[in-house]
Amino acid sequence: MTNPHSGRPPAIGALIEARLSRRDFLRHGAAGATIAGAGGLASLLGACAAPGTAPSTLGFVAVPPSTDDTVRIAPGYSAQVLFRWGDPVGRTEGMPAFRMDASNTADEQALQAGMHHDGMQYFPLGAGAAGATHGLLAMNHEYVDEQLLFPDGRAGYSAEKVRKSQHAVGVSVIEVRLQGGAWEVVRPSRYARRIHAGTPIRIAGPAAGAEPMKTAFDPSGTLVHGTFAGCAHGWTPWGTYLTCEENFQFTFRGTGKNTPAQSRDRLGTGGRQRWADHDERFDVARHPNEFHRFGWVVEIDPHDADARPVKRTALGRFSHEGAAPSVGLDRRVAFYMGDDQPFEYIYKFVTRDPWQPGAPARNRDLLDHGTLYVARFEADGSGTWLPLVHGQGPLTAGRGFPDQAHVVVHARLAAEALGATPMDRPEWCAVHPVSGDVYCTLTNNAARGGPGQRGADAANPRADNRMGHIIRWTEAGSTQHGPEVTATRFRWDIFALAGDPSSAEPSLRGNAAGDVFGSPDGLHFDTRGILWVLTDISPSTLNRGAYESIGNNMMLAADPADGRFRRFLTGPRGCEVTGLTGTPDGRTFFVNIQHPGEGAKETDPQQPRAVSNWPDFDPAGRPRSATLAIRKVDGGMVGW
Ligand code: FEO
Ligand code: CA
Ligand code: CA
Ligand code: CA
Repeated sequence: MTNPHSGRPPAIGALIEARLSRRDFLRHGAAGATIAGAGGLASLLGACAAPGTAPSTLGFVAVPPSTDDTVRIAPGYSAQVLFRWGDPVGRTEGMPAFRMDASNTADEQALQAGMHHDGMQYFPLGAGAAGATHGLLAMNHEYVDEQLLFPDGRAGYSAEKVRKSQHAVGVSVIEVRLQGGAWEVVRPSRYARRIHAGTPIRIAGPAAGAEPMKTAFDPSGTLVHGTFAGCAHGWTPWGTYLTCEENFQFTFRGTGKNTPAQSRDRLGTGGRQRWADHDERFDVARHPNEFHRFGWVVEIDPHDADARPVKRTALGRFSHEGAAPSVGLDRRVAFYMGDDQPFEYIYKFVTRDPWQPGAPARNRDLLDHGTLYVARFEADGSGTWLPLVHGQGPLTAGRGFPDQAHVVVHARLAAEALGATPMDRPEWCAVHPVSGDVYCTLTNNAARGGPGQRGADAANPRADNRMGHIIRWTEAGSTQHGPEVTATRFRWDIFALAGDPSSAEPSLRGNAAGDVFGSPDGLHFDTRGILWVLTDISPSTLNRGAYESIGNNMMLAADPADGRFRRFLTGPRGCEVTGLTGTPDGRTFFVNIQHPGEGAKETDPQQPRAVSNWPDFDPAGRPRSATLAIRKVDGGMVGW
C-alpha cells in the first residue's frame, strides 16, 4: 500500500478505502437498514446497533466532575503525557531541552513544541498494524500566553520577545511510536518540523496574486510569512494536514477607524499578542493588506519536512475553526467548516475534481478548484447550501465583489448578502463514518437575544445561549452507499442542547441526556460511530456561577443512537480539552490539554503556578499545554 499523495508508506488513503468498505458493510450488514437521505439517521444507527453489527453502548464507567489540578480518566484507562510545550520536536540540527523558568531563546523555541496545543491529526506510517503503532502527529499551537512564555512576562517587551512569541505558534509535526506499552516521540526524526509565524507559505487559489493580497513585502501577492491562530484542523484523503486560521485578528493592530470589512473581521486596536510593537507588518495603518493574508485554511504535507505549506484561498477567509472532510459517492470531497464568532456561519467547500487514489500529482491542487457554500437553516428542518460564486446572485461588482478573489477574501460579507443563517459560534464539524451525517458544535452565544441582537431561531433555539448545542444534518440525495456531498439541500435537527435539564434558567436548560456539560467545541467520531465531545468553557467563567457544578473542561462520549452523554476524562485547572485524534485500530487516542493554568485574570509572571502546575508539578516550573496518549490498560479499544 502506498500513500496516494507521495508514494510513501503512510496509509491514510487506505484508511479511507477501508472506511468506504466499512460503510458498505455496515449498511448491507444491518438487516433492513434504509437511509432515506433526510431523516434516516436514527433508523440507520438503530439498525447498525443491531446484534451482529456494532455495539451501541459505551464500555466505560463515567468519571465525576472535577476541579482538581490533574487529569482524571475512566477506570481501566491510562493518560500518558507525551509532548509538552517546550519539548524538542526532534530536528537533527538541535533538540534543546525546555527550561522550567521559560528562559529558552527564540531560536530554541523554533525547535520546540509551541504553546497552546489545539487541533491534531494522526497520520499512520505504514498499513495495518504497523501504522497503528507508528505514525506522525501534526498539531496546531493556537496562541501564546506571553506572561508564561518568558520568565518576566511581557516586561521589557522587545523584538527578541516578539520573535520567540512568533516561534511559539503555528504547527508541530512529530514522529511517534508505541514501544513496550507506552508512546514516545522519535528523536531525531526526518519528519520533525515546526511551522510558525515566520515560515514561508505559498498562497494559492482565487485570491493568489489578487490586489487585496499584495503587500510591500510581497508585491506578487503569492507568498506570506507564517500561519498562526490555528484552532481546529482538518485532513485530506490524500494524506495532508490542514491548519485552520481562526482568531488572527487579535494579532493585528488596527487604526481605530475600521472600514466596514475590517469591522466585520473584528479588527481591534490592541491584540492578544503585541507583535505590531516590533514587527510592522502587523500594524494595519502601515500594511493594510497583510491582514487579508490570514484567516485561511493552510495545507501541510506532514510526510515531507521540506514541503512548503500552501494557503488554499478557495476555502474562504474567516475565523476558521476546522475543516472536516467527507468523501462523496463520486470521490469529490467536501470540507465542512465553522466560522467561530457569534452570529457567524457554517460553510462547506466541495472540490471540483474527484480525489484520485494513487495519483498524487492529480490531488496536489484539488483544494484550489471547487465551490464554497454557506448554510441557511430553515425553520421546517430543511436547509440550503448557497454558493459563494462571483457573478451569481448578489455577488457582483456593483455590490462590491468585482471578482472571486474579493468573494473569498470577504467571505462573511458575501455570505451575508446571500442570506446565510447566523449561528451560535460554529466550532468543530465531524462526519459520521457510516451515514456521512455531519455534526457541528455551536459552543455558546450569550449575545443572542440581547439588546439590538438577533433573537432565537429554530437552529439556534436559546437566547443567552451560555451552554451551547450540537446541530447535525444529512445531505439530500445521500443513499446507503454514502453521502451526496455535492448536494445543495439538506435536512437538519438539533442533536443536543448542552446544560443541565433541571436548571431553572432557560438558557442553561438542555435536552442532552446523561452527564452535564457546557460549551462543546471538539468533535470526533471513532471508527464505530461513537461521537466524542471536548469542551471549552472559558476560564473567565469556569467553575463559577452557573458553571460551578460542571467542573473543569472535559471529554465525553455519546452514542448517536440514544444521545446519552457519558464523561470520560476531566482536565486540570484552567484548561480546555481539544485536538482528539486516534490510531486506526482504535486502541490509542491522542488528546490535547490546552492552556492549563489560564485564569479569570491575566497570568501574573511572578506567580505562574497560581492556577495550575500541570503536568510537571515542578516547584520552579509552570503549567504547560501537552498532548496525552490515552490507552485502555488491557490494550483494548478505547471506549468499548
Ligand atoms: Fe479556538 Fe473556536 O476555538
Ligand atoms: Ca476550538
Ligand atoms: Ca472554543
Ligand atoms: Ca482554545
